[in-house]
Amino acid sequence: MASNNDAPTRVLMVSFPAQGHINPLLRLGKHLAAKGLSVTFSTTESIGKDIRAATSANNALHWRIGAGSLTFEFFEDGLSDDDPMRKNLLDYTVQLERVGRKVISHMIKKHAESNGLFSCIINNPFVPWVCDVATELGIPCALLWIQSVAVFTAYYHYFNKSLPFPTETDLYLDVPLPNVVLKHDEIPDFLHPFSPFPFLGKLILEQFKNLSKPFCILVDSFEELEFDCVKYLSKHLLVRPVGPLVKDPTHGNGVIRGDMVKVDDCMGWLSSKAPSSVVYISFGSVVYLPQEQIDEIARGLLMSKVSFLWVLKPPRRNLGLEPHVLPEGFLKQTSEGGKVVQWSPQEEVLAHPSVACFLTHCGWNSSMEALTFGVPVITFPAWGDQVTNAKFLVDVFGVGVRLGHRQAENKVVTGHEVENCLLKAMVGDTAEVLKRNALKWKDAADTATAHGGSSYRNLDAFVADIKTRSM
Ligand code: UDX
Repeated sequence: MASNNDAPTRVLMVSFPAQGHINPLLRLGKHLAAKGLSVTFSTTESIGKDIRAATSANNALHWRIGAGSLTFEFFEDGLSDDDPMRKNLLDYTVQLERVGRKVISHMIKKHAESNGLFSCIINNPFVPWVCDVATELGIPCALLWIQSVAVFTAYYHYFNKSLPFPTETDLYLDVPLPNVVLKHDEIPDFLHPFSPFPFLGKLILEQFKNLSKPFCILVDSFEELEFDCVKYLSKHLLVRPVGPLVKDPTHGNGVIRGDMVKVDDCMGWLSSKAPSSVVYISFGSVVYLPQEQIDEIARGLLMSKVSFLWVLKPPRRNLGLEPHVLPEGFLKQTSEGGKVVQWSPQEEVLAHPSVACFLTHCGWNSSMEALTFGVPVITFPAWGDQVTNAKFLVDVFGVGVRLGHRQAENKVVTGHEVENCLLKAMVGDTAEVLKRNALKWKDAADTATAHGGSSYRNLDAFVADIKTRSM
């Protein structure tokens, strides 16, 4: 069934149900809606419940954005809230695929009855089967890769065996990417022979098995930031960097958020602090530090006497984790100098002039947000692409200092190390260099997303592609 030519072009987005996946895809949805497209954003009802409970827009599921629109449509994954399968990512993705193939196919056909087929379906990693559903129904599909172009390039080489990677017998092999050589412990560590999470590497590589289906790979990055890797990949695939997607095209339509935890009010507190005086601390939505590490970070903060805004998120339900506790009297000792929240409006925080630096686990969303708003970082990666992102943030982009190479269960970084890093990133010569570089990337991000910039043009080209293909 062809779509009606007068109706707005309609796009379906299907997101894996995790915060780090939802945020960039939802942001892309807002951009496409701002360009006049009608976007249906779909993920599981298990997460839909959290989003509705957490966002100030509460039960609003539909927004007009300029000439376009954005609508949430959640689907059941077939499991009860406390089903043990939710604790096991591998089992869960199998279940999601089993149910999702049918549900998404049904959703598409149901929409088609009144509005014709969607013109394009966009998914993010961990749900590669969405491309199969699209192809079976004759709908063009595209992938939004939610990590860096460099990390995509590493997976691409690994999948195609076009570069040697470390093996059990050759552990210390370097991997030369187009612009940088990654040491064995700087590659996305799901690809390492002794990765603690090898199944996550397998899950990501599933998307690479299906790379012939999406007509385009969109990336939340920009050409100027990852020029060499974009150039290399473009010889093989249609890669369109369209970021930083966090730059909101709806101009303050911040009610459309996909938070799974209710945002705490911290902006007033931040505004009461002097310019460039606060360290923002957050480790994304998944990484959950051991209690001993929390104690040492608290000690480091007290010793440094630096003001801080610290996100201590509640443990995800059903995972059996204990909530973190802060040392007794900790907040009193900081005497108004610190604030702890469960979840922050992170992009607003990073854009605030009081923030001097960001202690981060280096998830790609957090990394892009720091670069977008010109905030230097203290890197403390845990696993996966985070170790590679830390390498780039420190050694390639020049915006960070390292707090340890990576988090490790058996090695807690001490309060003294935290204190040293904080002072290095906030005062003195190193801090000045980091800030200068961070502002350079902020300017480059502004230019890429401004009218006529590389990401602006890539997004327009993508919209034109969708329209041409659906004719
Ligand atoms: C996951 C993986 O862990 C990461 O390695 C990969 O690059 C992306 O997917 P996550 O760990 O959640 O992501 O980190 P990140 O990519 O930084 O995404 C977290 C998102 O939550 C960011 O967009 C951030 O702005 C948002 N956030 C985080 C908030 O809005 N408020 C908070 O308090 C904390």
